[in-house]
This record gives sequence, structure tokens and C-alpha cells, in this order.
Amino acid sequence: MRLVPAHPASTDDTGHNPVTGEPHAAGGTPLAIDLSLEDLEREARHVIGEMAYAYYAGGAEDERLLEENVTAWAHWQLHPKVLAGISAVDLGTTLLGTAVSSPVAIAPTAIQGLAHVDGEVATARGAAARGALMVLSSLATCSLEEVAAGAPGAPRWMQVYILRDRARTVDLAQRAAAHGYGALVLTVDAPVAGLRLRELRGGVHLPHDLALPNLAGDSTESAHEGGFMAVVTREFEPALTPDDIGWLAGLTSLPVVVKGVQRADDAVRCVDAGAAALVVSNHGARQLSDAPPTADILCEVVDAVAGRAEVYVDGGLRRAPDVVKALALGARAVLVGRPSLWALAAGGADGVASLLQWYESELRRTMALCGAATVSQLERSLVRRAPGWSLDHGT
Ligand SMILES: Cc1cc2nc3c(=O)[nH]c(=O)nc-3n(C[C@H](O)[C@H](O)[C@H](O)COP(=O)(O)O)c2cc1C
Repeated sequence: MRLVPAHPASTDDTGHNPVTGEPHAAGGTPLAIDLSLEDLEREARHVIGEMAYAYYAGGAEDERLLEENVTAWAHWQLHPKVLAGISAVDLGTTLLGTAVSSPVAIAPTAIQGLAHVDGEVATARGAAARGALMVLSSLATCSLEEVAAGAPGAPRWMQVYILRDRARTVDLAQRAAAHGYGALVLTVDAPVAGLRLRELRGGVHLPHDLALPNLAGDSTESAHEGGFMAVVTREFEPALTPDDIGWLAGLTSLPVVVKGVQRADDAVRCVDAGAAALVVSNHGARQLSDAPPTADILCEVVDAVAGRAEVYVDGGLRRAPDVVKALALGARAVLVGRPSLWALAAGGADGVASLLQWYESELRRTMALCGAATVSQLERSLVRRAPGWSLDHGT
């Protein structure tokens, strides 16, 4: 993986450009971190092989949303302020009271054991090295206890699916609370599995040397035999309602984040039901294929929530300028999914740390160019709809 080595987040800025955070070469020349996500994906594909690649890269149906999630961020432009007097950029923020060094968090993605022998533990170590939040998938191949022990004290949240066998969800929530996870992230966009044709055609399944230790029950056997779509169909509760947010919140003292919200009215129902935060997400285009890209719906959710809960967004965030747009539109943080899998496959924990460092460095650069010194200064006037992309019509 052709990246500069990651530096611990706690390192002070001596030897770094105070605006971009880039390390200085000997002689003081600032170095940009030259990372191509396309190259990283190619390298990861080579390392993990075609079955794992089909699982990670694929989307639902004809995958049109997969591409739209990425390209729709270009429907917005940054409208910079100048003469803003900025000599340093601070990316630090809090997410439900948890201090993080940057607004870029690691999304929950399942089965990281296909990417790296240390799986989710390596991702947790990489995120911890940068002081970033990691959300652990409940379909992880490492137990939540192993992940907690692998990166002690690091900010981490636990993603949860409510299972038909609710006793197993109760157990998972209580284990997460007992092991330092700071929130339960309830994913609500999977009442059934999306039609993931790449997964079906690629014969994607859980290899016999991997297991799903957080779900327990028959999940591991289901995934060995029928693949991951079978786990969703057999194990997940399909008939969730807003009451289930309150049910989950009542199991522990942890706040509940609802992931997979795409509409203003649903956002209000979730907040009324007790959600502390929402993730605007279409599950990385893996569920309903003909849904809108998240870049086009973030605003309506932010406006409907009106500050009553934190709002985060994921889907296609591949460039720092797009992260800045998301924050300026009102997201408090973004989550990245596939890029973190490519970094994990290509470079393990160091790869994940380097990827996060790249986002940080380019975020600082973009914010300085926009005239914003802190994430709280990123506000709506810094973005405008690109010509030809009215929000009313989406075209
Ligand atoms: C391989 C893969 C597995 C995923 N597994 C989960 C999961 O277990 N739980 C969940 O809530 N979301 C899951 N997601 C969705 C991500 O959390 C996130 O919403 C999505 O990846 C964001 O889009 P991006 O990949 O374009 O960044 C998964 C996504 C991918 C690509």
C-alpha cells in the first residue's frame, strides 16, 4: 500500500503543516498524502480474491445506486469564503458526547475476516491510532469482546440487528454495554435482504474457518451453507416499528442511533420514539436499488430533525470535498464503508490508519480553502446545488 506511515493522532503538529496536517519532508517541504482509492481497491481485490471482492464491492439489483451514491455528491458545489484568517484547521468533534479526532468514522461492515486475518480487530486498531470512531457490525467475524480488548479505550459503537429470537439481541446489547461500546446503532433498512446478484452469482458464503460470534444461534451455519442473504432472511426480525427503538433503548443505558433512514417523516418518527441520532443511509446501495442517493436526501432529514438528534450520513463518500459538503449540509459526521475494507485488505491496521489520515489531511486542506477553521463553521452557505441539479426534481 503506497501511503506514508500513519502518525498517532496524539502527535502534536511539530513537523506538520498546521493547516493540512501533512508531514514535512526533511527541509520543510509539505508532502501531500498521495492516495488513489481506485488503486487501493485494485490492490485489495488482488489480495482478497474474487469471492470476497464480490461480497464487498457489490450492490443490489443492477447496482445503479452504487454509482449514484458516489456521483451524487457532485450535485453539490462548495462555495468558498476567502480572507477568513485561517492559520490552522481543527477537525475535532463529539458524537453523542464521545470525543473524536475527526468527523470521518468507520461504518459497520460485515465479515472483515475475508479482508484480513485479524479482521475487525485490525480495523479497530487502525481507527484507534487516529482517534476515530469505529462502528462494529453485528455480523463481525471477531467477537465484540476481542475488538474491545484489541483497542482498549478507543471510541467504538455496536451495530445491532433485531433478530426474530429477541433473546439473542438482548444478549448482544448487554455484552456491548459491558465492554465499553458507547451506543447501539440499530440498522432498520434490512427487513429482507436486497437482491445482491453479485453475491448470488459469485457463490458468496462464509468460509468454514470464520464464524459470526456476536450473533450466536444458527447464524454461522446459515452463513456457511446459504450465504449472507440467507442469514438476513432466516434470522432478522422483518416487522420492526418505531416501538422497537424504545425497546432496544430500554435494554441498556446506551443511546440508540437509527441507521438506514431516508425520509423526513421517518426521521421524525425515529426521534419521537427515542433515537438519539440517525444515519441517513441506503446501506451502501445493497438494499433497495432504486432509492435516492444519500447526497440528495440528507438535507430533508436534517431539516426535519431540526437539531433534536444528531444526523450522520454514509454512502459514496470517497473524497474530502464530499465530506465537507455533507457536514455543511448538516451532517455531524460521515461513515465510510468500502474504502475502509480496501484499506484493511491492503494494509491491515496501518492501512486503515493511513486511510483515515488521508481523509483528515484532505479535509483540513478543503476546509482551509473554504474558509472554515472548525467543523462547526461548516454551514449551509458553503454549499450550493450545481447547475442543472435542482433538488425538487433531482435531475
Ligand atoms: C461489505 C459490506 C457489508 C456491510 N455490512 C453491514 C452491516 O453488517 N450492518 C450495517 O448496518 N451496514 C452494513 N453495511 C453498510 C455500511 O454500514 C454503510 O452503510 C455503507 O457501506 C456506506 O457506503 P459506502 O460503502 O459507499 O461507504 C455493509 C456494507 C458493505 C459494503
